[in-house]
Amino acid sequence: MKRTALIQVLGAVAYGEWKAYEGAKARAEEAATDEERLAYRKVAAEELRHHKGFRGRLEALGADPERAMRPYRRPLDHYHAGEPGSPVEEAVWSYLGEGVADDLLQWLRRVVDAETAAFIDTVIADEEEHEAMATAELRSLLCGSRQRQEAGRAAQRMALHMLDSGRATPLPFAAFVRLGRPLDLVGAILGGHLRRMRAIGMGPFGLPLPAGLARAS
Ligand SMILES: [Fe+2]
Ligand SMILES: [Fe+2]
Repeated sequence: MKRTALIQVLGAVAYGEWKAYEGAKARAEEAATDEERLAYRKVAAEELRHHKGFRGRLEALGADPERAMRPYRRPLDHYHAGEPGSPVEEAVWSYLGEGVADDLLQWLRRVVDAETAAFIDTVIADEEEHEAMATAELRSLLCGSRQRQEAGRAAQRMALHMLDSGRATPLPFAAFVRLGRPLDLVGAILGGHLRRMRAIGMGPFGLPLPAGLARAS
């Protein structure tokens, strides 16, 4: 039972890493400077390593990676096909997207076998760098109140788009719950979202922070 859930969750993560690889590769191709191109090429190489590593874990469990990834293709393709409209929006989506990936991995490493957890630790080390890169990029764009408002709207659109992607082709989420510590997972993702929005001076889902909290952040 737990093995089946583990295979399903690793399938979702393996496909998510593939989408992250495709995204970073596209960013490298569109890069305006050599520095940016090199940075995104490095990210793409790391995402591909993650994807292959999760495939390897699936094979070690005697599972077929393609089969394990299949149920997650449509919802994740739908999610990633939603193009952010502006540089601020793109930066918000990658800031929050990298963040959700980090939170998910922190939960996952606590509910898997020791060998998979050791591999996840190497993934987390890369993802922390990706998140730092996305944070720096977003901060450099948030130079005035107009950009902040735009970032708030972008966070709202991202949340709606996530819900919509899940509705169009429901993510098989039950496996995540069966794997263990479901409340930790929900807490990590919601807590991470609140912390990241607050770090850029905003409330959850891009809503304005109450005045007292805005001053404190
Ligand atoms: Fe990754
Ligand atoms: Fe990443």
